[in-house]
Amino acid sequence: MCGIIGYIGDRDISSVLLVGLERLSYRGYDSSGIAVISSNELSIWKKAGKIQELSRILSGMTIHSNIGIGHTRWATHGVPNDINSHPHLDSSKKFCIVHNGIIENYLELKNELINDGVLFRSQTDTEVISHLISKYYTDSVEEAFQKTIQRLKGSFALSLISEYLPDQILFVRKGSPLIVGLGKNENFISSDINAILNHTKEVIYLEDGHYGSLSQTSLTVFSEKGKKVTPKISSINWNPEDSEKQPYDHYMLKEIHEQPHVVRKIISKYVSNDNKINFTHLNGLDLSNISRFIIQACGTSWHAGLIGKYLIEQYANVVAEVDISSEFRYRRMISHGNDVVLAISQSGETADTLAGIHEAKSHFFPVLSFVNVKNSTIDRESDGVVYSHSGQEIGVASTKNFTAQLTSIYLFSIFLARVKNVMTPEEADKHLNELKKIPEYIENILNQAEKFKKLADKYYLSNQILFIGRGMNYPSSLEGALKLKEISYIHATGYAAGELKHGPIALIDSKLPVVCIAPDTSTYDKMLSNIQEVKSRKGKTIIIATEGNKEIKQYADDIIYIPKTTEDLTPLLVSIPLQLFSYYVALNLDCDVDQPRNLAKSVTVE
Ligand code: M6R
Repeated sequence: MCGIIGYIGDRDISSVLLVGLERLSYRGYDSSGIAVISSNELSIWKKAGKIQELSRILSGMTIHSNIGIGHTRWATHGVPNDINSHPHLDSSKKFCIVHNGIIENYLELKNELINDGVLFRSQTDTEVISHLISKYYTDSVEEAFQKTIQRLKGSFALSLISEYLPDQILFVRKGSPLIVGLGKNENFISSDINAILNHTKEVIYLEDGHYGSLSQTSLTVFSEKGKKVTPKISSINWNPEDSEKQPYDHYMLKEIHEQPHVVRKIISKYVSNDNKINFTHLNGLDLSNISRFIIQACGTSWHAGLIGKYLIEQYANVVAEVDISSEFRYRRMISHGNDVVLAISQSGETADTLAGIHEAKSHFFPVLSFVNVKNSTIDRESDGVVYSHSGQEIGVASTKNFTAQLTSIYLFSIFLARVKNVMTPEEADKHLNELKKIPEYIENILNQAEKFKKLADKYYLSNQILFIGRGMNYPSSLEGALKLKEISYIHATGYAAGELKHGPIALIDSKLPVVCIAPDTSTYDKMLSNIQEVKSRKGKTIIIATEGNKEIKQYADDIIYIPKTTEDLTPLLVSIPLQLFSYYVALNLDCDVDQPRNLAKSVTVE
C-alpha cells in the first residue's frame, strides 16, 4: 500500500512525479504529495483526496527543480487529511521523507523524540523517521539515514531528500517493495515499474534490507550489513499501453473483457500442441511424492485457492488444505513430511501472504507460488513459481487475474495428476480440450452485457444480497459477494447453500435478492432444493444455470445462462456474470469502480 516515486534528472519534475503518482494510485489513493529541492530549498505540496486534488493545487505552477519525491497514501496511522499526507519533514525542515509500510516501534521512538523536545505535527508513524534523521545528523546525511533505519522495526520502503544533500535521493527497502529505474542522465525510484515504464525499461529490483543513494548519473547500493553490492539490472518488456483503459470507461470493464485472451494466453504458455503441460519455473521442486498442499492466500486469491483445493484433490489425489494467510501465518505449522506450501497472489506483494511464506520457510516447507507480477517479492522468495500471465491488472477489484489463477491451477492439477500417474493421457486430453473451449464461452457471456445492465437496474437499490453455491461454486459465491461489496458497498455474503438452513435462511424475505449459482454439476439437485427453500420464503432468486436448463426457470425471478461445460470448469464461467453484475450495480450507484473507497490494489501492510 502507498506508492513512492522519486526522480532526479532534467525532465519536467512535476509532470514525472504526478504521472508517476497517477500510475501508482492503485496502491492507495487517500492523499498524495510531492517535494522538490530548487535553489537549495525544499518545497512541499500535499493534499488529501485523489491525485487530481494535488494536480489542482499545482496547476499553472512551473517548478524548476531536478530532484523530487512523491507519495500516494493508503492511510494506516492517522486520518487521510492534508497534514497526515506525505512527504513529512523534520522540525528544521531540512529532511523530507516519503514512506510505504508501517513502523511498528514508532510509539517508542515518538516518546523518545518528544522527550528530546520534538513537536509532532501529524498522527503518522512516518514522521518519527524525519525527526530521527535530524537527531542523528551531524555532517553526513547518509550516516544519519543509516543510523535511523537501524532503529526502525516493521516493514518499510523509504525515500529521502535533504537540503544538505541536494543532488541525491537516499532510499531503503525493508519488507516493502522499491525499485530503481535507470535512465540516461536521469534516474528514478519507485514502488513498482508502472510509474516509470514510460521513461525507462532498465530497472533494479532492490533486495530486502538494501539501501543506498541515487544521483543523476550514479547509483550506490549497500546490503543490510553495510557491504557495497552490485545490483542486477533487469530489462522490462511490458508495454506502457497495457496501462491505458481505452476504449473502456473503466479498467475493471477492460479487464473483464480481456479474459478470453488471458485464458488463451495461459494455455499457449503451458500447453504444447500435443497437449503436454510444462511449467518452466518449478525449479526442481519434487512433486511426485507430495502428500499435502497447504494453500494460503488472501481475498480473491484465497477464493481461487478454495477452488484449487477441489481440483488438486480430485485430479491428483493429493490432500489440499486452504487457509487465509493472515490466519495461516500465526498458526502452528505441523509438517507431515512431503508437504508443500502453495501461495497465491496477483501482486506478489501481499504482506500476509509473504509472511506466510516466511513462516513456512522457517519451518522448512518448500514454497510454490502462483503469482502474476514477475519479479515481485513473492516471485523472488518462492522455491517454484507458476505465473498467472494475466498482464497488468489495474482495477482494484480482481477480475481477469482470478480467471488466470483458476486456469493455471486447473492446468497445474492435471499436470500433477500426470506426474503422479493418477490420470491417463486420454483423461488429461479430455480436460484440456474442454478448457480450450472456455475463451469462446466467455466471449459468449460478455456479448450479453445488456442483460447484466438490466439486472443491475433491477437490484442496485437492494440493501444486501446473498450469494449461494455448492461444491466448487461455493467459493464462486464468496467471490461474487466480495466483488459486489468491494465496488458497490452493498452488503453481500457468500454461503455454501447447504448451510442456509443453519442460520442465514433467517435473512430471507421478499426484499432479499439471492444469487443462486446452479450450473449443471453433481450437486445440481441439492442446489435446486436450496433454491426452493429460498423461493418458499419469498426470496428473490437470480439464478445462474446451464444453457438449455428449462426446468430451473420456474424458480427464478431472473435467470442467467452460461454455456455448458464440465463441472470443474464452471467457476471460470460463473465468475463472468458475477463480475458484470457487480460492475453495473456499482455504476448505477455512482461508485468509483476502479478505486473503491478504503481499498488499495496491493496490500503491503499487515
Ligand atoms: O495481490 P493478491 O492476490 O495477493 O491480493 C489479495 C487480495 O488483496 C485481493 O485479491 C483483494 O481481495 C481484491 N481486492 C479482490 O478483488
